[in-house]
Amino acid sequence: MRKKIVAGNWKMNTTVQEGIELAKGVNDKVSGSDVTVILCTPFVHLTEVKRQISKETLYLGAQNCSDHQSGAYTGEVSAAMVKSAGADYVILGHSERRSYYGETDSLLADKVKIVLENNLTPIFCVGEVLKEREAGKHFDVVKKQMNEGLFNLSAPEFSKIVIAYEPVWAIGTGKTATAEQAQEIHKVIRDHIAAKYGSEIAENTSVIYGGSCKPSNAKELFSNPDVDGGLIGGASLNADDFMGIVTAF
Ligand code: PGA
Repeated sequence: MRKKIVAGNWKMNTTVQEGIELAKGVNDKVSGSDVTVILCTPFVHLTEVKRQISKETLYLGAQNCSDHQSGAYTGEVSAAMVKSAGADYVILGHSERRSYYGETDSLLADKVKIVLENNLTPIFCVGEVLKEREAGKHFDVVKKQMNEGLFNLSAPEFSKIVIAYEPVWAIGTGKTATAEQAQEIHKVIRDHIAAKYGSEIAENTSVIYGGSCKPSNAKELFSNPDVDGGLIGGASLNADDFMGIVTAF
């Protein structure tokens, strides 16, 4: 059975003190349900946020990590460091990393390997920009991102991956994909996994949606058979809004 997941991507928001308060607020409200809740915080918040977590279904994640194991890479943070701070998840290939920091599919393939080697679960982001959707290329774009970033993995490795479909035109814009658009492409993603790794692995892979997901639209999005939860940006910065999404299942 695949997991239902709601992950908050705090991006570059909150001071450490604000992050502690936010994490406390979420931890207080999480009740033992079948939803895996993840807080993906800035690196410097990880250790402190970990201390606020006491609920069994609440986990910690990072938003990125280095493509190197360790060494002379000034300013970088390794997967081993993230793991040692108490995290279990790492977002990789977010569209902001791809577009602002030039992260390519081949760099991301290296990061996925390192993250798995350090016993962390990658939340691997895919998604098209508006132009690509308007040109009808969105399925091909997402498949290419999967082929190049993930499909060099063995089946046992791939079975640890979480995929986040995030249409770039919906991120932080207030524009959400419709429930039909989300279901359609999530199904394409699952079928693409099945074609490569077989239907059992495809059925067990969580594919979550991201892009202006809020308490008011989460229920409709999550009610689709191939939408297994959400990756939440803006609405994860308020504990009530975030938990309103978690309880939308
Ligand atoms: P948003 O961001 O919810 O603010 O649109 C989602 C994301 O970028 O993960």
